[in-house]
Amino acid sequence: MQDYHEFLEEILISEGALQARIRELGADISRDYAGKTPILICILRGGVMFLTDLVRHITVPHMMDFMAVSSYGAGARQSSGHVRIAHDLNTSIKDQDVLLVEDIIDSGHTITEVLSLLQSRQPASLKVCTLLDKAERREIEVPIDYCGFVIPNRFVFGYGLDLDEFYRNLPFIGVAQPDRILRK
Ligand code: IMP
Ligand code: MG
Repeated sequence: MQDYHEFLEEILISEGALQARIRELGADISRDYAGKTPILICILRGGVMFLTDLVRHITVPHMMDFMAVSSYGAGARQSSGHVRIAHDLNTSIKDQDVLLVEDIIDSGHTITEVLSLLQSRQPASLKVCTLLDKAERREIEVPIDYCGFVIPNRFVFGYGLDLDEFYRNLPFIGVAQPDRILRK
């Protein structure tokens, strides 16, 4: 396995910048959910790093649950707009305040399908918190309540985001070299 440096064009968001912004998001969420007990739903696997750092800055009592979805019918780097629930929530969200935590919103198809599924379970409220927003790639409008960073249309990895399943552990967001993409 090659060292990640072989695939890294540049660091787009440093560890320090990520952590500073996540601290702000945690403060915003704590303020907005004062008096409530939200359930944070993380979409596996990309959102895990973000969720675990975010909750350390959330001061209201809250729960967490996890969901895994996979899009099918398209390549690894393109969303088809059809998602399969590979792992569903363990808790009921009916009448609960739900905050969906995502790593990145790209075309918007994945989160749109997840939101409509969650909405059908009648939560008291449903909001979206994404670390990254690749806004210029949007194909369908997505309501984003909390956003870490709007990023350009480049393939990024690290901090939960994978390059063909590797390098999720990197503490920063890096841009992948377009000509050095792993197989798949
Ligand atoms: P969407 O349905 O096009 O919005 O796709 C969102 C999903 O695509 C994310 O949850 C990621 O898994 C993946 N994705 C989109 N862009 C990137 C990227 O630059 N790096 C890594 N994964 C990405
Ligand atoms: Mg993902």
